[in-house]
Amino acid sequence: MDKKCGCWSVLKRGVRGACKSSASKDSANTIPRTSLVYDAATETRYLNASNRELCPPNEAHLSSDNPERPPLESEVPRQLLQFTFQELKAATGNFRPDSILGEGGFGYVFKGWIEENGTAPAKPGSGVTVAVKSLKPDGLQGHREWVAEVDFLGQLHHPNLVKLIGYCIEDDQRLLVYEFMTRGSLENHLFKRTIPLPWSNRIKIALGAAKGLAFLHNGPEPVIYRDFKTSNILLDSEYNAKLSDFGLAKAGPQGDKTHVSTRVVGTYGYAAPEYVMTGHLTSKSDVYSFGVVLLEILTGRRSMDKKRPSGQQNLVAWARQFLADKRKLDLLVDHRLERQYSIKGVQKVSQLAYNCLSKDPKSRPTMDEVVRVLTPLQDLNDLAILSCHSRLPQQGRRKKKDGTPQLTYNPSKSIRDSPLNTGRQHCR
Ligand SMILES: Nc1ncnc2c1ncn2[C@@H]1O[C@H](COP(=O)(O)OP(=O)(O)OP(=O)(O)O)[C@@H](O)[C@H]1O
Ligand SMILES: [Mg+2]
Repeated sequence: MDKKCGCWSVLKRGVRGACKSSASKDSANTIPRTSLVYDAATETRYLNASNRELCPPNEAHLSSDNPERPPLESEVPRQLLQFTFQELKAATGNFRPDSILGEGGFGYVFKGWIEENGTAPAKPGSGVTVAVKSLKPDGLQGHREWVAEVDFLGQLHHPNLVKLIGYCIEDDQRLLVYEFMTRGSLENHLFKRTIPLPWSNRIKIALGAAKGLAFLHNGPEPVIYRDFKTSNILLDSEYNAKLSDFGLAKAGPQGDKTHVSTRVVGTYGYAAPEYVMTGHLTSKSDVYSFGVVLLEILTGRRSMDKKRPSGQQNLVAWARQFLADKRKLDLLVDHRLERQYSIKGVQKVSQLAYNCLSKDPKSRPTMDEVVRVLTPLQDLNDLAILSCHSRLPQQGRRKKKDGTPQLTYNPSKSIRDSPLNTGRQHCR
């Protein structure tokens, strides 16, 4: 794991570390403790209404989900900027509809610009580009997630976690300011674009996201992410993956404890079965979700897709039959790749997904092991389309009238255009 690249700081209760140069705003530097109090009525509304609540509401109160987390050992202070609402309004051009980058359960995400040093808004196209997430006035995921996001992301540093630049808390307004991720989410690239994401990018993204999770799991006090899914994997211009959305993150088990007990939250289609059944949360729950995303990357299919025929709607249930059998892997791979993928890479990814999706959490690999499996897959060049070329001349050979063989196979795409073509390919 890339431990050197990341750093941990003390996770304290409430939002700390806010910095503001202006003396007039000093009193607002630390969010008032009262703002973090979540009254029981609001809590119930959140649990019942959130689209990420996975257990029936009447079970929710049975599990203990302590929002207070113990501090971490090491301390690497991270300064978050505290913005005023007016500053963010100006930075996003009055939250213009055409600057909307997306919408989630929390609310809209806007593109904006701020000056390089500080919180002042900048002209569009100048200064630093940011993504501003605003909590809906009736935000169902609400204040609690906002606090968790600031708490975790404000203090965890790693190349594969999105950078939280700052926040705004004013009356009922709750906003978060992140580094802008040029290529948006993996969800967009896998499911909403007509051009398929090349295999090499898929591997790079899976590896980056795996490193992000490994960092969280291996810190001095482990963090379980709990909401690993394609919309929470953001991509920079080079397709480096960064995890966003720590609203559901949770401190992992301490000492000799094997799990933490929580109310069950997450997203349908990604949550580990034992977690949904028992509320027992371990880092292996994240590993299961990673397996689901790996399957989505491999197949180009959504984890849950009601538009597909019954029997194919739940990706994991449908894919299991193919994952275990090397000869059937062709049927699993995203057909839009037109065989421009590494055969060995597909085999390794399928085996890895199979292991991550094991029904027994103890049989799942750790995220460190996942990183070790994925790392060498970046360099594989054994394109499936090349194996077609080496096979098809025999299959497609027809004798011309003069007895010389004639090639009938005509590949739809040039090998030269392949994303894996480094000039070193050879057929196996
Ligand atoms: N830092 C960012 N840079 C660029 N685009 C972003 C950034 N953060 C979010 N987005 C865009 O906004 C969309 C909505 O993000 P958001 O995290 O609010 O919701 P979601 O992940 O789609 O759903 P959920 O609320 O269930 O997590 C993302 O899918 C992404 O396209
Ligand atoms: Mg998200």
